[in-house]
Amino acid sequence: MLAGAQTPTATQPDEPAFIGRAPFTDRLNPPAYEPMSPLPREQFDLGKAVFNTTWAAAGRSGAAASDGLGPLFVTNSCESCHNNGERGRAEPAPDKLSNSFVMQLGGPATVYNHVINNQAIDGHRPEGRIEISWRERAGRHADGSAWTLREPVYAVAQLQYGPLPPGTVLRPRIAPAVFGNGLLESVSQKTLQAVRDAQPAAVRGDLLARLGWQAEVANIADQSAHAFAREMGVTSLWEAQDDCTAEQSECRAAPNGGELEVSGEHFAAVVAYQTRLAVPARPARDAALDQKGAELFVATGCAACHQPHLPVSRLSGPARIDAYTDLLRHDMGEELADRTIEGQPVSSLWRTAPLWGLAHVLQDRQVALLHDGRARTVEEAILWHGGQAQSSRRAFNALKRSQREQLLAWIATL
Ligand code: HEC
Ligand code: HEC
Repeated sequence: MLAGAQTPTATQPDEPAFIGRAPFTDRLNPPAYEPMSPLPREQFDLGKAVFNTTWAAAGRSGAAASDGLGPLFVTNSCESCHNNGERGRAEPAPDKLSNSFVMQLGGPATVYNHVINNQAIDGHRPEGRIEISWRERAGRHADGSAWTLREPVYAVAQLQYGPLPPGTVLRPRIAPAVFGNGLLESVSQKTLQAVRDAQPAAVRGDLLARLGWQAEVANIADQSAHAFAREMGVTSLWEAQDDCTAEQSECRAAPNGGELEVSGEHFAAVVAYQTRLAVPARPARDAALDQKGAELFVATGCAACHQPHLPVSRLSGPARIDAYTDLLRHDMGEELADRTIEGQPVSSLWRTAPLWGLAHVLQDRQVALLHDGRARTVEEAILWHGGQAQSSRRAFNALKRSQREQLLAWIATL
């Protein structure tokens, strides 16, 4: 057993209660994780409506509160990427890009700014088209059973404002779940520092922000403002400029949907909604599998990064969350790295992805795991683990088939 991984035990009477989960009886109408009095309830419901709003181009009559889309954008609602508060959707067909996908840009500043806006309102040109092709990789577990992975290769074509400069970094990202983020945001610096200190040196992570695939997102409000502006072209008090640059003159000259396209009230509500959104409750499960799976999760080193519980403090006293993350950033190896347009690997530092809610996510016919959605199953996601997680992945490869199946079956109950 690796040091730094807590042995999961049944809740003792003196241990703080787990919070954050609630049954998602209606998938299209996800609940808050705790009861609310009428005013916060109203704000939660308003926030959910804003999150689900389909935005229209500026000047559409009858859409004053929800106009201002674009001119350049990726999709027209938060929901279309964040899938009713869940993770982004998988691609509809094997060769198609998921509509929960964003190609962020890094490296030198470009005329395209933060993201490739692959859609535009009438009369404007989308910035370009994202192309994805797949290379197959095959290998075997220690017991001889075979696996295959698909490795994505990305390119941006039909660029309307000139080529990308050398060294531009393509940062492919699928939308993560927004549920539970209010609680992740509330984990203290001291807690994360202690988790880090207890990790064996070989897997020790780095403490940055709490949210985002690379822990670069400070909080829900910040990312909401970025998302409105960059992914939807909708301006707010917190981000008054959308993703078009000075060189994109038609985009800059297009009419607005009002000075602030999303009002202060609606912005506050959408943040409040995400802050209180519950994580789907775990399904009923077999006690023997529960015990065995949790043990294998520790024994293969998963729990050192995917921490089974973290303390949080509430007004009502101490509590715990079972998010299965340390919120720290780890080097996951070159195979998961972002690359420049020339194909040079850049950053392979990723925040341990929270595994809570996976049971619910896995009910979808197709899933898209890891930061760019390349993994079609939990097993594929594990097989991509390299860098600091390499020894853990090897321990997984070395399991007997029956143990591997137990571990995967247990993860599918998280
Ligand atoms: C076109 C797809 C897309 C749209 C539309 C979109 N998002 Fe996102 N969202 C993403 C992606 C991709 C990320 C991951 C960004 C990263 O980690 O760099 C993300 C991350 C987030 C995060 C941080 C989440 C986390 O779990 O770490 C929040 C909060 C968020 N989005 C809120 C919103 C809100 C609110 C809206 C609507 C105003 C919205 N998003 C619209 C794709 C989208
Ligand atoms: C060194 C830390 C570390 C260890 C050890 C580790 N993981 Fe991870 N895990 C991560 C990081 C970081 C990511 C996100 C990588 C990415 O998105 O590219 C991740 C992603 C995942 C995902 C995908 C989740 C999602 O939402 O897309 C699954 C499933 C997963 N890990 C399971 C496991 C299992 C099972 C083990 C043990 C066999 C394990 N991990 C060991 C750090 C770790």
